[in-house]
Amino acid sequence: WEMPALALALGYLLGSIPFGLILTRLAGAGDLRAIGSGNIGATNVLRTGRKGLAAATLLLDALKGAAAVWLGEAIAPGGGVLGAAGAFFGHCYPIWLRFKGGKGAATFGGIGFAAWWAIGLSYLLVWVGVLALSRYSSVGSLAAALAAPIAAFAFGRADFGVLFIALALIVFWRHRGNIARLFAGTEPKVGRKSG
Ligand code: G3P
Repeated sequence: WEMPALALALGYLLGSIPFGLILTRLAGAGDLRAIGSGNIGATNVLRTGRKGLAAATLLLDALKGAAAVWLGEAIAPGGGVLGAAGAFFGHCYPIWLRFKGGKGAATFGGIGFAAWWAIGLSYLLVWVGVLALSRYSSVGSLAAALAAPIAAFAFGRADFGVLFIALALIVFWRHRGNIARLFAGTEPKVGRKSG
């Protein structure tokens, strides 16, 4: 059991690196948690007006999810799913931030790509497509989270499919504030200030 536990623990450590928070602080853009939605993800980094930093956050938060899958697979057979679970949990509930982390959308995407490229691509296309149509980042994230388990089962990765059902539930839970704002009509669209 040591190897599966190691895959989970290393995944958690990787996932718990809050890239959005670190990059904005290094760039002197202040504490991300005091801006917009207060979230530590790329969407909120975009609200600082720094597009490059937002893109870097998106990429790094996705990469850490992918890295956790690759690392997990190298450690133990089937360890990729455990690494993914650890990374996603680490991103959403990092011990360093008293368990107040992000909403999981970018990390979920990176995990999808590492599970199988077509799963990641499906996730990305749904995310970008729904974001482009709705102009709401949160709606794009929620739609992609719904697409992820379907894509995993469709492309023959049932092991990840089962995990992705759980991750999608967590994504919805982490977006409960966004969902309430969507129903209230107060959720900010991408490209507008404040959140
Ligand atoms: O993945 C996060 C995104 O879906 C919403 O972010 O900052 O608008 O709550 P935010």
